[in-house]
Amino acid sequence: MDAFAATLHHAYRVAVEAAVEAGRVLRWHFRRGLEIHYKGEIDLVTEADLAAEQVLISRIREAFPDHQLLSEESGEILQRSPWLWVVDPLDGTTNFAHGFPVFSVSIALLHEGQRVLGVVYDVMRDELFAARRGEGAFLNGRPIRVSRTSRLEAALLVTGFPYDRQESPFDNTREFVALLKRCHGVLRVGSAALDLAAVAAGRLDGYWEFRLSPWDLAAGALLVEEAGGRVTTPAGDPLPPLGTDIVATNGCIHEELLEALAAARAGA
Ligand code: IPD
Ligand code: CA
Ligand code: CA
Ligand code: CA
Repeated sequence: MDAFAATLHHAYRVAVEAAVEAGRVLRWHFRRGLEIHYKGEIDLVTEADLAAEQVLISRIREAFPDHQLLSEESGEILQRSPWLWVVDPLDGTTNFAHGFPVFSVSIALLHEGQRVLGVVYDVMRDELFAARRGEGAFLNGRPIRVSRTSRLEAALLVTGFPYDRQESPFDNTREFVALLKRCHGVLRVGSAALDLAAVAAGRLDGYWEFRLSPWDLAAGALLVEEAGGRVTTPAGDPLPPLGTDIVATNGCIHEELLEALAAARAGA
């Protein structure tokens, strides 16, 4: 095994263990109830976000002290390393803070700007989604595939909305309304990582969202690709390493969804 493969192998184990341990912390806080703080008008953070983040950071730092790390609440640790961890200790804070049991832990690892490892843990359903580049995607150890839905009109989609309440071309309102009328339904689950995991597992056919942060989608994007799906920007370009605007589908409906989003944006 070469050095890259050995590091990736070790990283996989560390990521899975860290996700499950952070999940335990989140479950404990969820049952106990907690204090909510506001980062913005509707942008929340709880003690649980911070406690789970401490678990992820300490596990990763312990195993890989020289790797770089980017995390939602604590910012970044920059070093000279080709390895960059991009983590969200609690994806779905609004659900969590309201007692709605749908949230996740998201952990991605990039090597020289390429996503090579993704782990998304659905804490309350105890579902662990994991992928390594070139090795497929798995749910609790079993291979997963994207759906075969071939037309947008027969698709079940999911999306999300930014915390910024100002009207803007990226507030997703036009796209949301337009797409509702073009398919079987558009969900809003509230965890971008779980949205992507659901597309990877073939439970949903497509997902789009604008103005995310890299930690929301880095792990989930790799899950979708490794499950046979397609991931691009809304313009149809490859998703950059720290991309924030995404369209992810089973592949079959990708072009149709890109076109529908572009038409909605243009007001057509
Ligand atoms: C949020 C979730 C949500 C998405 C928001 C994200 P957070 O992350 O992923 O689904 O719509 O844009 O910020 O704040 O719960 O980690
Ligand atoms: Ca998030
Ligand atoms: Ca978060
Ligand atoms: Ca947040």
